[in-house]
Amino acid sequence: MQGIAVGIPTETVYGLAANALNATAVAQIFEIKRRPTFDPLIVHIGKIEQLNELVESIPQKASQLIDAFWPGPLTLILKRKDVVPDLVTSGLETVGVRMPNHPITLQLLQELPFPLAAPSANPFGYISPTRAQHVVDQLGNEVQYVLDGGECQIGVESTIISFEEETPCILRLGGLSVESIESVIGGVKINIQSTSNPHAPGMLLSHYSPRKPMHEGKPMEYINDARVGTIQFQGETNQSKNRILSSTGNLNEAAQRLFKTMRELDESDIEKIVFEFVPEEGLGRAINDRLRRAATK
Ligand code: TXA
Ligand code: MG
Repeated sequence: MQGIAVGIPTETVYGLAANALNATAVAQIFEIKRRPTFDPLIVHIGKIEQLNELVESIPQKASQLIDAFWPGPLTLILKRKDVVPDLVTSGLETVGVRMPNHPITLQLLQELPFPLAAPSANPFGYISPTRAQHVVDQLGNEVQYVLDGGECQIGVESTIISFEEETPCILRLGGLSVESIESVIGGVKINIQSTSNPHAPGMLLSHYSPRKPMHEGKPMEYINDARVGTIQFQGETNQSKNRILSSTGNLNEAAQRLFKTMRELDESDIEKIVFEFVPEEGLGRAINDRLRRAATK
């Protein structure tokens, strides 16, 4: 199975994985996802020693984050070594690396003699999968194997942080909160723009999108409108077309349910989706980022 791409579970979202050091295997990922090659992939490792084989050096603050949060939903952008194929990094001098925190995939990575490059296992631009079935539903014709590791516990992609400048910079808000990162290494910059931002390639403004139009509004006003699906942060009206992300207002639970909720509404018999933003703190920032991108057409 050296040269093929397979679906793997992680704690954030399911990935479409192939041997990161084999450009032919990696090429399949781009083909299956219909992903533009200017959008670099994240390399997944199971042992800390593997990091030294992939990157030139590890800044002190990166080391501190590794000690505190790996395995976990944190991707580090570091200066790459030549073994990493250009296709993985889209020709950049840096590579994104993370150690995922999922028992099955961690074991797989520890047993394999090579790291795995893996983007989220969805067609480019669509909502990321948080269950094995989501991968089968969308890529089942092209992907022969999906390792079923159950439902993803975090539910949004990893936080991406770069160390190219003096002050570390967050390029994608994700499953590890800014507050957690700052509690270990102090202040960071946040630079999560989009299309035209060369530092966050692939962070397109329009992304994570359902096929049905999605926009911000007051969900309560549409509760009885059969054509409109709603996503509320908290509350009690959890019906098939009126969804709440967390009855108790817990942002971690809301993150865990976000993509599944968007996906199910997209597949249901409604015409559009109206959502409200969640509090801009903890994982709420990543949730709002995904909602904003899903709503941009
Ligand atoms: O949680 C996750 O990170 C999931 C799971 C499967 O690990 N993976 C994931 O991969 O979200 P993907 O391909 O959907 O997003 C990877 C993003 C790219 O779009 C790009 O924004 C950023 O990571 N990235 C990768 N390498 C980079 C680099 N060298 N410099 C800057 N950004 C990079
Ligand atoms: Mg993705």
